[in-house]
Amino acid sequence: MTTNPQARPAFGTVLADQMAIAHFRNGQWTAHEMRPTGPIEIHPAAHVLHYASTCFEGFKAYRWADGSVRVFRMDKHVERMRQSARLLVLPVPDAEQLSKMVLATIDRVRDQVPEPPGALYMRPMLYGTMPNIGAASAPSNEATLIVLASPVWDYFAGGMKPLRIYVEDEKHRTADHLGMVKTGGNYAAAMGPTLAARDAHKVDQVLFCPGGSVQETGAANFLLLRDKHILTRSLDSTFLHGVTRDSLLTMAREMGFKVEERVFDVAEMLEWVKTGEAALSGTAAVLAGVGTLVHRGREHRVGTGEVGPVTKQLRAALVAIQTGDAPDTHGWLTRV
Ligand code: PLP
Ligand code: COI
Repeated sequence: MTTNPQARPAFGTVLADQMAIAHFRNGQWTAHEMRPTGPIEIHPAAHVLHYASTCFEGFKAYRWADGSVRVFRMDKHVERMRQSARLLVLPVPDAEQLSKMVLATIDRVRDQVPEPPGALYMRPMLYGTMPNIGAASAPSNEATLIVLASPVWDYFAGGMKPLRIYVEDEKHRTADHLGMVKTGGNYAAAMGPTLAARDAHKVDQVLFCPGGSVQETGAANFLLLRDKHILTRSLDSTFLHGVTRDSLLTMAREMGFKVEERVFDVAEMLEWVKTGEAALSGTAAVLAGVGTLVHRGREHRVGTGEVGPVTKQLRAALVAIQTGDAPDTHGWLTRV
């Protein structure tokens, strides 16, 4: 796999050549099979195509310097996938089976795991296949579970360039009870406002703050940082409970940071960024520094406008664990 930065494909555009697939039928899951990555057959009446019964996950496997491959916090992502399925009333994958599918896929495409700063992005996906166009308020009793893999590098084009973020204080990213579910409909709901803000304000992402209360962006959590202090929204159903967020907060506490998880509003955020830092956290984003917030037509520089030292420090500490440069004291990595 190429390490030449110019030749790296855009995030998600290249897939590993094998995928794992299993089906839920007659009340049980079939054993999975490995298949060449490619088109799948789907009935046009399938539940997912009409009523959006689908969820997915995203996490990474890393190639270490000794050639071994390690997957980061697989159990937590498997549990979140099961929770998403439960909240969408989809057949819930068995944790052991899903983990087995992930590990089998990584093992099969081991040669396609890039070296750092690249990684193999794992994308389990689950969708309802019951062929019934009348089932608008009935769950799908059939489903397909697929594990895709994709060699990835930076999510944000421009690498470590500070991001420009539009602060949206009216529109919602999603329905309040579904924010914690990793389902395609949430991304569909954020798409229009995100493209409109990109067009109007040349921003990278939108920070959703409905009613003035800061939540998250379309594909990452949001953190305010300064010397030995982090502020981020406390967990509730309105936003995705990021595994990267949890990892960073755990590490920060151990490094002696004061970590505040609570509701805060746009006014408090704008005050914070006069001297502090802001960053987006996620599997794809890792910890990406924010340079500018655009709010109601006004530009607010975040700190110096560059990626701040606390953001850089925490990002480096997290990546060091993932890639084997620092000890994995929490047992976050599974050897494949
Ligand atoms: N929020 C949203 C909407 C996301 O899509 C993601 C990415 O997965 C995150 C937050 C961060 O979650 P995680 O750190 O588990 O990747
Ligand atoms: C992730 O960080 O895993 C995400 O889900 C981002 C993705 C929507 C591209």
